Amino acid sequence: MNVRLSGVGSYLPERVLSNPDLEKMVDTTSEWILERTGIRERRIAPDGVATSDLATIAAQRAMERAGISAGDVELIVVGTVTPDMMFPSTACLVQRNLQATGAAAFDVGAACSGFVYGLMTAASMISSGLYRNAIVIGADTLSRITDWTDRGTCVLFGDGAGAVVLEPGEGILGSCLGADGKGWDALMQPAGGSLMPATHETVDKRLHTIKMNGNQVFKFAVRAMANSVIECLDRCGMTRDDVNLLIPHQANTRIIEAAAARLGIPLDRVAVNIDKCGNMSSASIPVALDQAVQSGRLKRGDVGVMVAFGGGLTWGTAAFRW
Ligand code: UT7
Repeated sequence: MNVRLSGVGSYLPERVLSNPDLEKMVDTTSEWILERTGIRERRIAPDGVATSDLATIAAQRAMERAGISAGDVELIVVGTVTPDMMFPSTACLVQRNLQATGAAAFDVGAACSGFVYGLMTAASMISSGLYRNAIVIGADTLSRITDWTDRGTCVLFGDGAGAVVLEPGEGILGSCLGADGKGWDALMQPAGGSLMPATHETVDKRLHTIKMNGNQVFKFAVRAMANSVIECLDRCGMTRDDVNLLIPHQANTRIIEAAAARLGIPLDRVAVNIDKCGNMSSASIPVALDQAVQSGRLKRGDVGVMVAFGGGLTWGTAAFRW
C-alpha cells in the first residue's frame, strides 16, 4: 500500500470535568475511578458545540502540518458514534466548514474502531488511485449520549477529535480489521434508530444513552487487541520488537496494560492519555497519535501500531511508519 500519513492534528474542548466533580454528580469516589479505569479527568464540549466543530479544528491542524489547502482536499472520512445528526453525515458538515468544496465526504460506523476503519478505507481509496489525498478524522462528543445518572458509565467518557492527512508515499505497512456482530448488544445506544425510534418513553428510559456490559467488553477488548496486533504484525513480516510505539484505544488503563503484557510490549513503548482525556471513542487514537508526535515520542521513521476495539463488536489494527 503506497500511502503515508503526512500530517496529524487534534483538538480537545477546554472544559475539564475532574473525578472530584463527578463525586458531586453520582455515588462514586475519585479513588475508585482512578484505580478501576486510570482516568483522572476528561474534556467536555460546551452546549452548541457539535462533533463536526471539534473535527473541523483537528482537520485544520492536520492540514496545516501536511501543508495541504482546503481546495486540494479530495476525500474526507469521519469515524464517529456521535454525528451532529442522523444525516447528513458529519463529514459533509466538516467539508462545508473547511470549504473543501471538491471533496467527497462520508462517515464510517465502527464505533470506537471508527478511526482505524476510516484510515484503512481512505488508504485503500488512495492506494487504488481513486484519490490523491484524504483527511481521516476520529471525532466524538460522547458527553451528549452519556447517562449522567449511571455511575457505571458516566465516569468513563470524554469529548475530542483527532485527524490525519493521507497522501501517496511510503507509510502504512499493513492492517487487520475484524468484527463479531454476535456481541452487538454489549455496547450500544439502543434508541433513536429505525429499530427503536425516539418516543417519550425511550427518552424517559434514557435509551438514547450508552448502555454497556463493562465486564464483557473488558474481556473481549484484551483478547481482540492482542490478537489483532499479532495478526497485523505477522501480515507485515514484523515482530513486537519492530514496534516503537503502540497507540491503543483508551478505554481503561487495565485493558491497555493487560493487552500490552499479552503482546510482550513494555509500557514505555505504549501511548497512554486516558488519565487526561478519558475514553473519546474514535478520537482516542488520533489524539494520542498527535500528542506522541508533538512531544517527540514518535519520530519520523519510527514504526507505530494503532489498535482499537469497540461496539459492534469491532476491532482494528494499523501499522505504519511515521
Ligand atoms: O470504548 C469501549 C467502551 N468501554 C470499555 O471498554 C469499558 C470496558 N470495561 C471497563 O472498563 C470496566 O468493566 C469498568 C470500568 C466499566 C468497570 O470496572 P470493573 O472493575 O469491571 O467493575 P464492575 O463493573 O465489576 O463493578 C465493581 C463494583 C460494583 O459494585 P458491587 O456490585 O461489587 O457492589 C459496581 O456497582 O464497582 C461498582 N461501581 C462503582 N463504584 C464506584 C461501578 N461503577 C462505579 C463507580 N464508582 N463509578
